[in-house]
Parts: sequence; C-alpha cells; structure tokens
Amino acid sequence: MATIAPEKPVFHTSPTAYEVLVRHLEQHPEDTPKHTHPNDVSRSDIYFNDTWQPIFAKMRAEGPLHYVPESPYGPYWNVVSNKAIQHIEALPELFSSSWEHGGITILEREESEGLELPMFIAMDRPKHTGQRRTVAPAFTPKEMKRMDDEIRQRTGEVLDSLPRGEVFDWVDTVSIELTTGMLAILFGFPWEDRRLLTYWSDWAGDTEIATVKDLTSEREKVLHEMGAYFQQLWMKRSQEEPGPDLISMMIHSPAMNQMEPREFMGNLILLIVGGNDTTRNTMSGIIHGFDKFPDQRKLFEEQPDLIPNAVQECIRYQTPLAHMRRTASEDTELFGEQIKKGDKMVLWYLSANRDETVFENPDKLDITRDNARRHLAFGYGIHRCVGARLAELQLRILLEEMHKRRMRVHVAGDVERVKANFVHGFRKLEVEVTEF
Ligand code: HEM
Repeated sequence: MATIAPEKPVFHTSPTAYEVLVRHLEQHPEDTPKHTHPNDVSRSDIYFNDTWQPIFAKMRAEGPLHYVPESPYGPYWNVVSNKAIQHIEALPELFSSSWEHGGITILEREESEGLELPMFIAMDRPKHTGQRRTVAPAFTPKEMKRMDDEIRQRTGEVLDSLPRGEVFDWVDTVSIELTTGMLAILFGFPWEDRRLLTYWSDWAGDTEIATVKDLTSEREKVLHEMGAYFQQLWMKRSQEEPGPDLISMMIHSPAMNQMEPREFMGNLILLIVGGNDTTRNTMSGIIHGFDKFPDQRKLFEEQPDLIPNAVQECIRYQTPLAHMRRTASEDTELFGEQIKKGDKMVLWYLSANRDETVFENPDKLDITRDNARRHLAFGYGIHRCVGARLAELQLRILLEEMHKRRMRVHVAGDVERVKANFVHGFRKLEVEVTEF
C-alpha cells in the first residue's frame, strides 16, 4: 500500500477522458483503431452513431457465436443470443472472470494495466463468493427502504430546480447529479466531492482510451489519484464510529477485516464505477426512449401503475453496459463451435436484449411488455449485478417524482452518444421540460 499523503491533494475533474482522446486522435489520426472484419463490433463508431442494431440482428439470425480473428483488441468471440449468454454465465468455472485469465472487458490484460486492483467482479469462486457476501447486505430490501426517503428527497430537489421553457442538458443536470448523489448517500461519500465519482468512472470505463498507448500513463495517473483519495477516506473513516453507510459497513465487517487494503480499495472502486455510468445512462435512456416513442410516454403519463414495469423495460431498451467478457479456462465445444483454452468470449448484453426469440418487436420500447424482466442488462448467474435493486429504486423514484410533478421532457437540441464499446449511453441530451 502506498504511503498516505499528509494533506488532502487537489483533485481535478477535467480534462475528461473523452476530451483527451479526441484531442489525441486529431493530432495522431494514425492511432485511430482499425477495424476491418464485418463482425468486429468492438468498433465504437457504431454505438456513437447508433447503427449497431442491424449488425447484431444479422449475426443473431446466423447463429449465437461468431469468431472475429482480428481486431484492435485481438481475436475474440461474439456471443449474441440471450440463451448463449446465460449458458456461458452459468458455467463460471469453465468461463472465467478473473484478471489472471483476462478480466471482464474486451480489453487485453496488458491494455488494462493500472485498473488491475483486485475486485470481486474479476474473481472466480470461491474468492468471489466471500467478498460479494460482505457488500450484499447493503442492497437488501430493508436497506433499500431505508434509503428510499433520502433518494426521493434528493430527486425531488433536482427536479424542482429544473428550468421551464429553456433548453438544458439532461445528462449533466439530472442523470449525473442524481447518480452521484445516490452513490454519495450509499457510501457516505463527502458530498462536496461527489462529482469526482463521475470523473473517475469516465476514465475507468473508457475502453477505447486504453487502446491508445500514449494515453495509458494519463489514465493510470487519474486512476492512481482515485486510489489515493479512497486510501485517505478509508483511513479517516476507520478511525470514526461505525455508521449505516457502505464504507463504514465494509470497514467494520469482520470479513472485510481479513481483506488486504488493495482488495478493499478495489472493491470500493468497483462499487462506484459499477453504479455510475450504468444508472446515469439509463436515466438518459428513459428520456430519449420516451421521446422516440411518444405513445409510451403517454401511457406512462396516463397509467403510473406501469412505472415498475417501465423501469425494467427502459433498462432492457438502454442496456447501459454493452458487454462483459469471459475467458475459456479449457478447450470445449459450445453450440457446435470449438472453443480453445484462452479464447475471449464477449457477451453482448446489448444484443441479448434485442433477441427476437425472447422479445417480440425488440427494437420498440414497450412499457407494457410482459417479459421485460427477462432482460440481461444486469448479467446472469453468480456475478449478476449486486446493485440491481438500488438502480431499480433510483429509476422508479425518478419516474414517480416526474409523474407527481406532471413533467413531460422533450428532446429539444443536441443528442450525443458515448463513443465506446463498453459503456452504452449519452454524453449530451438537450431537453426542454413542459407539463402534461
Ligand atoms: C455487476 C449492470 C447498477 C454494482 C454488474 C454486471 C452488470 C451490471 C452487467 C456484471 C454481471 C455479470 O457479469 O453477470 C448494471 C446496470 C446497472 C447497475 C445495468 C444500472 C442500471 C449498479 C449499482 C451498483 C452496481 C447501482 C452499486 C452501487 C455492481 C457490482 C457488480 C456489478 C459490485 C459485481 C457483481 C459480482 O461480480 O458479483 N452490474 N449495474 N451496479 N454491479 Fe451493476
């Protein structure tokens, strides 16, 4: 563990990973990743331009697994059907999540250096089981009930502060603000520093930036800054009385006391990064989806009892994490294909959630869809998202509080999507608020 800095260092929230990447590629166009294979869906332009749907639909029609022999991330398998993803996730011994085998994103190990703090999302059994168990109590229905009032109050305050008759960016003003607020409440994170959570999460989740060699050291610097901040927070909180928040719970849980400081830090960062882009981009996806399908917005306005199902459907429709990755730990046969030990299996949740064998008319947002809950946006099996209940709670509260205020939100300006193959969402969404 590195030494603790005596004074609180200055933390920056700019430039963002995206700004640095854009500037770099303008100066070094030769570093732009080259994608030539027709099924190479690691190319981020298809998510930025929202043109990924037919590419995955064609693959799904041809079969559940597709090998891509060459890409900027090396060779990999696309796993595109709902059934095949569940099958692979149900065999965690054969399809590993651990860093030693390659980790959980399409990035190769050497490309992800600096992010390799031990965290249970990138561990296999039995280690994964013990560590997940230490944080799971923070997400029980009882805990969600405890957090409901505070999240509701914060959500109401943000909605009441929105301008009327004026165009503003929903991503920055609402999605980021509410998500960082939710995480700050969960963790007992210093309120005034909460925007750091967004900044770090952006740098950590941007797989494209990690493929550009010149930018790796920049990324490591930011991630080390994040580590240093948490180290300080951990030291401070371990000297205080136990509180109801997650950091305190982790510090004072007997199982966590057994954990090395690096592991503690890794898991803390996992929870923050895991909860950040995901919930934020669903909040933006809801608004964009309702604007694209005004019949569904009208249904929401007329039938607020549909809100719990609308939350599931919006998560399915947005799928804020496009993929997770597993690595074969042995040679095996899968759906008629020969998989070799070490093969990289990229599980495209984005495709599974548009699988026409499970969801009728999958490209339509339909808040009355009776099987919306079968989405795989939270993954499946032993690694299924531990924060799912919290995310659902925050999204339900957002819709309920919007409904209470009779708020209708229209897209009224620029829409800019995230240019990445891992985080699937919006960088900017200019809107205007009216009433229904
Ligand atoms: C795991 C998605 C919100 C914390 C995951 C996984 C996905 C995911 C796809 C991996 C599942 C797998 O490999 O099978 C989402 C989505 C969210 C969301 C779509 C919001 C809409 C949250 C929140 C938190 C969180 C709010 C915590 C504050 C975690 C953690 C893991 C995880 C700790 C690792 C679980 C494990 O390995 O056992 N999430 N997540 N997530 N998520 Fe979430």
